Amino acid sequence: MKISGVDLKDLKEQYGTPLYIYDAKMLKDNMRLYKNNLVSKEFETEVLFASKAFNVKEMVRIVDKEGLSLDCVSVGEFFTALSVGYDPKKVYFHGNNKTPEDIRFILEHNVGVIVVDNLMEIVALDMITKEMKKPVDILIRLNVGVSAHTHKFIVTAHVDSKFGVAYDSEDFKTMLEVIEKSEYINFRGFHSHIGSQIFDLAAFDAAIDKLVSYCKDFKEELILNIGGGFGVHYTDEDKPIPFDVVSKNLIETCEKALKKNNVKIKKLCIEPGRSIVAEAGYTLYTIGFTKKTPNKEYYFIDGGMTDNIRPALYQAKYSCDIVGKENAKKDHLVTIAGKCCESGDLIIEDYYLPEAKPGDLLITYTTGAYGYSMSSNYNKALTPAVVFVEDGKSKLVVRRMRLDELIEREE
Ligand code: LLP
Repeated sequence: MKISGVDLKDLKEQYGTPLYIYDAKMLKDNMRLYKNNLVSKEFETEVLFASKAFNVKEMVRIVDKEGLSLDCVSVGEFFTALSVGYDPKKVYFHGNNKTPEDIRFILEHNVGVIVVDNLMEIVALDMITKEMKKPVDILIRLNVGVSAHTHKFIVTAHVDSKFGVAYDSEDFKTMLEVIEKSEYINFRGFHSHIGSQIFDLAAFDAAIDKLVSYCKDFKEELILNIGGGFGVHYTDEDKPIPFDVVSKNLIETCEKALKKNNVKIKKLCIEPGRSIVAEAGYTLYTIGFTKKTPNKEYYFIDGGMTDNIRPALYQAKYSCDIVGKENAKKDHLVTIAGKCCESGDLIIEDYYLPEAKPGDLLITYTTGAYGYSMSSNYNKALTPAVVFVEDGKSKLVVRRMRLDELIEREE
């Protein structure tokens, strides 16, 4: 089996397993699908990559080359972007609890836009910008009350969400008063993120409708950032909408809402994370032992929840194949288990695969989002390497962690 012309057995030879593999062309194609289709004659548009889904230097370089902006949610993500010369002015900085140190760091490094989450944050930002004499553009994160989700743990915009403020709340009014008096804070518009792995575009229509209706209360043309959350294919139960269709649909919805409310906006932004990287990513494992119990059959792999926490955390489903046996008879109902000392360390449960022999390679699909970025060193597992493949060539993007690196910060 090959990805972008590169044989998986060669990748195993060269880089070992577990291994994160990204199809670089698909990353670029996905970015272009959004960028080329999110266009309007009525307002500007901007596509941001939500870097929490996969933030490494080489990824930021591609984002930069493809002309996308960046969503960062921590100083760590922002620092990674700065380290490859990414223009900080193209960064939207998020977070519900930015520390004074975070705020000073990003202001010092000329962040483009801060997405302010709550009342206490705007007060802190007012003080710090005054002290640093540093002007800053901000969006206010609104909780628009639209909740779209495939799993309750990743809902972010219900009424009691930890993110954002409601438009009709006292907190929001006070935030505007603080901005009004502030010499350095420039209010530019609103942000909302309604959830993740969303397949129903009506959810975005509802959010856009609300945001646009709020714009009527402001003299200046505002920026609306409607977040990310566009669904991808993990298993055949998922039926994602092509990203060009998503983009065109969002534009249409927004244009209609503007007309209905007789208002103009300056810009519409989206910030997809998962949908840019998920399906471009694969994880390659080596199967070790296999085991039969009275009611189950296990294939054990050399990775697990340390490189993909999503099944354990969200009961996320994946699909997979045994490399070279894609077309063999799938007559074993198996559970793919990792090597962690944890009974929940199961990557895929009750899945039909051919018979496996120790040393066979197992590939899991659609692992490009929130896999590497949520990986851990639990059980002192080594973080796997990351390679990008394109046109028959592979490129090491993150090398595998070494044993000595596991203890280098320890006294
Ligand atoms: N913008 C904001 C403000 C967000 O909070 C998020 C995701 C995104 C954009 C990108 O959403 P996406 O397009 O990737 O769905 N760890 C979870 C996902 C958490 C998403 C958090 N926010 C998972 O593995 O499913």
